[in-house]
Amino acid sequence: MITAIAAVSESWGIGKNNDLLFSIPEDKKFFRRTTLNHTVVMGRKTLQSLPNGKPFKDRENIVLSRDKSFCCEGAKICGSIEEVLKMIDKDEEAFVVGGGEVYKAMLPYCGRAVITKVAADPESDVFFPDLDGDESWELSERSEEQDFEGLKYKFCTYINKKTR
Ligand SMILES: NC(=O)c1ccc[n+]([C@@H]2O[C@H](COP(=O)([O-])OP(=O)(O)OC[C@H]3O[C@@H](n4cnc5c(N)ncnc54)[C@H](OP(=O)(O)O)[C@@H]3O)[C@@H](O)[C@H]2O)c1
Repeated sequence: MITAIAAVSESWGIGKNNDLLFSIPEDKKFFRRTTLNHTVVMGRKTLQSLPNGKPFKDRENIVLSRDKSFCCEGAKICGSIEEVLKMIDKDEEAFVVGGGEVYKAMLPYCGRAVITKVAADPESDVFFPDLDGDESWELSERSEEQDFEGLKYKFCTYINKKTR
């Protein structure tokens, strides 16, 4: 199954100026634990927003770019969503890890979305599609409210009814 994983604001904002909105240690650990040893799919801009522009360690990294000359050590480059879908092993779990353009394009192929919902609304210039307003998606699990230095957040799981 393909799973989207993201941390979103109250407005489903995910980033500003090619950077994240939040830095919550427990959420970073959750992301690492969840995606470790799996395939992760991301856009070229998200790759370049990572520390030193390097792919995630201990994961198979697939990066989407339309630039045929783009390359990156430790990542496979795909020029289209179709190419990504061919490359992903259907029996394995793969994660779409951002950013906005890639979430939007890959969401119809995702069976699940694991969303850290943060109770704050900073200005954003990139958004995750609003799953609460999308009838195809259903909230299936929600954690207790967590707190990091006064910032409240919850881990939520949504299921895509169309792929069930
Ligand atoms: N909150 C979170 O959980 C989270 C997670 C990840 C990222 N983010 C944030 O998201 C923002 C980046 O998102 P973004 O929407 O600007 O960029 P993005 O989705 O990371 O990357 C966009 C780039 O990916 C390539 N691409 C996208 N769709 C493609 C397709 N169908 N076929 C081939 N290539 C394709 C293109 O690369 P080329 O231009 O090279 O052709 C495009 O410019 C940053 O602020 C980042 O911090 C947030």
